[in-house]
Formats: sequence, C-alpha cells, structure tokens
Amino acid sequence: MNILIAVAGRHGSTRMIADAIAQELTSSGKTVTVQDVAKVTNLEFHAAAIVGSAIYFGNWLPEARQFVQRNGNTLSAMNVWLFSSGPLGEGNPQPKDDPGHLADLMRACGAREHRTFIGKLDRNDLGFGERLAVKIVRAPEGDFRDWEAIREWAQGIASALAASAQAGSSFKGGTIDVNTTVPGTAHS
Ligand SMILES: Cc1cc2nc3c(=O)[nH]c(=O)nc-3n(C[C@H](O)[C@H](O)[C@H](O)COP(=O)(O)O)c2cc1C
Repeated sequence: MNILIAVAGRHGSTRMIADAIAQELTSSGKTVTVQDVAKVTNLEFHAAAIVGSAIYFGNWLPEARQFVQRNGNTLSAMNVWLFSSGPLGEGNPQPKDDPGHLADLMRACGAREHRTFIGKLDRNDLGFGERLAVKIVRAPEGDFRDWEAIREWAQGIASALAASAQAGSSFKGGTIDVNTTVPGTAHS
C-alpha cells in the first residue's frame, strides 16, 4: 500500500513531523512517500494520503489549501488525514487559527480526521517581517513538538489502514466509515 504524505511549511519543522509519521508507517510495513505539496505527482497511484501544513497568520499555507481544493475529487476517493503544526508553547496551546477553514478543507477532501501538533519557533530562522510578527504576538520561542503524540497518531493511521485492507477495500466507499476516529487521537 502506497501512502503519500504531502506537506507544506516555511522553516522545516512541519516537514520533520511528516518524516516522523513516515518513519512510523514504514516500520509498520507501509510504503511511504513524503513530498512537498507543490511537487506532488501521481496522487491517484496512492491508496491513502496525509496532508499537513504549518499554520501561518491563522491559516494553512496557501499551497496546502490549494492542493486540497484542487485535488478534492481524487482525495475523496482515498483515505485521507490532515494535520496542522502551529501552536507554540508548553502544555496544550490552542492554534491561533480560523477553525472554519479547516472544516472546509476536511469537507473538500472527505478527510477522516484532522489533528493539530504543537510546532517549533526559532527566531534565527525567520525573516524580518516574520520576526516582527512573532514579536508583536509574543509567540514563545522553542521546539515544542511532541514526538510521542506524533508517532502515536501515525500508529493509529497504520491500524486504520490495516483494518481497511483487511476489509478488502482501501477506499472509503467500502466498509470504512468516513467519520471513523483513529483510536487514541482527538479531533482538534
Ligand atoms: C510569522 C509567523 C506566523 C505564525 N502564525 C501562527 C498562527 O497564526 N497560528 C499558529 O498556531 N501558529 C502560528 N505560527 C507558528 C508556526 O505555525 C510554527 O512555528 C510552525 O511550527 C512552523 O512550521 P514550519 O517550520 O514548518 O514553517 C506562526 C509562526 C510564524 C513565524
């Protein structure tokens, strides 16, 4: 089973989350390709897709939104999961975003679930405008990514896909309920 992880970010931390998900899926026997959303080819040859974007200024990055909207029909025939990386800080920071746009994206591709992961901010990586923006909102600096939560989410996807394959269909039109929640994960 080929799984695509299509990812968008500006400073590499979302890509590392995608790579960690890929590693977990690979270790459970899946074939995984991680690609920048702007470089995805042959989407239709994959049985499942995970699409992730960093959140910037309250929204997924434009190239990630466009990828989902443009490929909505193809994605809707696959098992799809979405993730965001963005909120910063210790504990359980909430994303400063517009939840409405995520609901639209989930509808556009029939995603089974969306999950938000805490991100990373290193001022040294930022350009002038970005530094100013994070200074104004007093965004906390640091690497807050929760690798255990990321790996756990990936394991849930691996289990859901194995169940799907066992049921004889990799497509949502088969026996899998599109609203299935992967065990051990939460909507956000
Ligand atoms: C200029 C700027 C704006 C950001 N805006 C948001 C935001 O609106 N909501 C949010 O939850 N996180 C926001 N973040 C945090 C990023 O999403 C976080 O740093 C993420 O891990 C970056 O991923 P990347 O390294 O893949 O680009 C912002 C970060 C920067 C630098």
